[in-house]
Amino acid sequence: MRYFCCEFAIVSAFMITFAVEFNSLTIINIRTMVNYKDLGLVNTRDMFAKAIKGGYAIPAFNFNNMEQMQAIIKAAVETKSPVILQVSKGARQYANATLLRYMAQGAVEYAKELGCAHPEIVLHLDHGDTFETCKSCIDSGFSSVMIDGSHLPYEENVALTKKVVEYAHQFDVTVEGELGVLAGVEDEVSSDHHTYTDPEEVIDFATRTGCDSLAISIGTSHGAYKFTPEQCTVDPVTGQMVPPPLAFNVLDAVMEKLPGFPIVLHGSSSVPQDEVATINQYGGALKAAIGIPEEWLRKAATSAVCKINIDSDSRLAMTAAVRKVFAEKPAEFDPRKYLGPARDNMEKLYKHKIINVLGSDNKLAE
Ligand code: G3H
Ligand code: 13P
Ligand code: ZN
Repeated sequence: MRYFCCEFAIVSAFMITFAVEFNSLTIINIRTMVNYKDLGLVNTRDMFAKAIKGGYAIPAFNFNNMEQMQAIIKAAVETKSPVILQVSKGARQYANATLLRYMAQGAVEYAKELGCAHPEIVLHLDHGDTFETCKSCIDSGFSSVMIDGSHLPYEENVALTKKVVEYAHQFDVTVEGELGVLAGVEDEVSSDHHTYTDPEEVIDFATRTGCDSLAISIGTSHGAYKFTPEQCTVDPVTGQMVPPPLAFNVLDAVMEKLPGFPIVLHGSSSVPQDEVATINQYGGALKAAIGIPEEWLRKAATSAVCKINIDSDSRLAMTAAVRKVFAEKPAEFDPRKYLGPARDNMEKLYKHKIINVLGSDNKLAE
């Protein structure tokens, strides 16, 4: 078989590869490379610099479906907040990577339609686990990627992160690296206990990899069960469980080693107890779900922590609203009648996070 291949490097934002078979059949294979700037998205560089200076953090909300995306964008527009739309490997498998990318492009247009002249929206890969996944996201319009090599031996983490940075920076895509391991399921690797970030490693890591931001481990973890009741004390006034303190000393030491460097906090859901109660009231079975107190996140947001990741709280808000409708209106079978209230409840949650926890409201450039 003879193939004639002619490959064009990037022409404007598009790279098109033709592979034409000159036999009886002619097969044309077109590969398109899209730059996020053509989709109206932005990377995290200026956003993080402004957030650190201004003492607030950018919300990084995960999305897997249209209702989550609509709620995130509506909340961001109505509070005039920049926002990071995060897509995990699981989300790409669930919703289809191509569809998610077009939804993010649609998000920019939707924000404009809602009256935001200059939306600042980042499309970010959450917990990228291989160079190939990061490359595929960069090639298809993501403006930011995380390469999570935190579970690898140090030198392997450095090498993998550096490789992703070298590729990403050619397209002005920003990269988040990670040092230290969070408890819970992270990057499909499950860990019973966390390993705090070692502040002695951060200068070497940031310098050698060239990463744009660094996720650190200071005691947060993924999911709705971040602490066991045995680890907590009970607040005598509110009766609420109070988890063991986060390692703010580790954050302080990291900031001292890397002054002004953008720091990221994963596992930052607070697990709102009213949502947990609603879920349980209407047939759910969430036992002892405990998150990070919002005051602690507020404190982190005033420091060099400029990106705070929230996923589980949105899942809880969605589930609570859906369960309520199902319990109160068992004859209802129109998805809009239960996904609509779920969307409203998530929007309320996102606005609360933006205004009262992260402080990113009214931070869009005019
Ligand atoms: O860090 C994990 C995020 O919450 C994404 O979770 O992998 O189930 O989509 P997922
Ligand atoms: P939560 O599970 O605490 O929402 O954390 C989400 C996260 O870190 C996504 O990367
Ligand atoms: Zn995470």
